[in-house]
Amino acid sequence: MSKAHNILILPGDGIGPEVMEPIKKLITYFNSKGATFETSEDVVGGAGYDKYGTSLDDSTLAKAKAADVVMLGAVGGPKWDKVDYAKRPEAALLKLRKELDLFANLRPAIVFDALIDASSLKPEYVRGLDIMIVRELCGGVYFGEPRGIFDLGNGQRKGVNTQVYTTSEIHRVARVAFELARKRGNKVCSCEKGNVMESGRLWREEVTALHAAEYKDVELSHMYADAAAMVLLRNPKSFDVIVTDNLFGDILSDEASMLTGSLGMLPSASLGAPDANGKQSAMYEPIHGSAPDIAGQDKANPLATILSFAMALKYSFNMPKECAALERAVSSVLEANIRTGDIAAAGVKPVGTQAMGDAVLKALIAG
Ligand code: IPM
Ligand code: MG
Repeated sequence: MSKAHNILILPGDGIGPEVMEPIKKLITYFNSKGATFETSEDVVGGAGYDKYGTSLDDSTLAKAKAADVVMLGAVGGPKWDKVDYAKRPEAALLKLRKELDLFANLRPAIVFDALIDASSLKPEYVRGLDIMIVRELCGGVYFGEPRGIFDLGNGQRKGVNTQVYTTSEIHRVARVAFELARKRGNKVCSCEKGNVMESGRLWREEVTALHAAEYKDVELSHMYADAAAMVLLRNPKSFDVIVTDNLFGDILSDEASMLTGSLGMLPSASLGAPDANGKQSAMYEPIHGSAPDIAGQDKANPLATILSFAMALKYSFNMPKECAALERAVSSVLEANIRTGDIAAAGVKPVGTQAMGDAVLKALIAG
């Protein structure tokens, strides 16, 4: 018997639980084919707040640390808008990322041929598009100190966040980008705002230094993040791997998702550094949010979550064949014109979340 793979399922809020259902079926299927997945489940985000009085309970965090992989749905919703910042649903996500030290966030933007027309760009700009955005996830303005809202005592208040990066934080995420590039198109574009920010200047200098020392075989370019936002629309296929900081990565990956047709298509993997025993923390989640407006209506697109699970097969479970088979299943379902509302062509009746999940499972079984 090979060692069991422990997966902690955290469906979260809004559409999170719905898009996670198909994953449970996929896990059952892979187990029937000899995989050794063991799952447990807990609540986070608003659901965590409702149960534990905080969006990420210590017991949940401990389970996440012990698991091989965390599968996360989505967090947040208007119900918790007034909750104290530290206990808000989003705080759970940030704490998971920080506590598990998931510094490398991989967000692939891939255009499936069948979805060419769902893209907001003309077909010739996006056909065959395959970009990997590597977003730094544990530093920068999301976590920098000082931060807060301060009373200036004169009727004015001051909101403060701090953008900060160190050499080692930059090197470790850039290294992930260079390594990935070697297995793909061998190009890295590093994005920052070094023209106005010292942290950006340091970012550029350190990426350049690491490249010169260890990755001369990879083609490296630099771009200011605003220019990168423009090139993503003008000539997206000129990119292979993009490496950038936490905030710019957040924005550029939402933008890139539109090239693929829908926010509902973009998966992500968040990876830590392997420890002495080779165990590498990992969390997989769709990049979309909890979409409270359509929650509970069986309308959400589960493909981003399914593709996130495919990434788990590849990056955490060393199951590249199964990953490829699952991605092929997604592709064949799209080719068969089975679509949720967000990617349905005009005149095509959309299917629901669970029907979409079942269609992918059926295609997987059919091979
Ligand atoms: C993302 C999301 C999160 C982020 C939010 C929900 C905190 O937008 O994963 O891209 O800003 O990182
Ligand atoms: Mg985002």
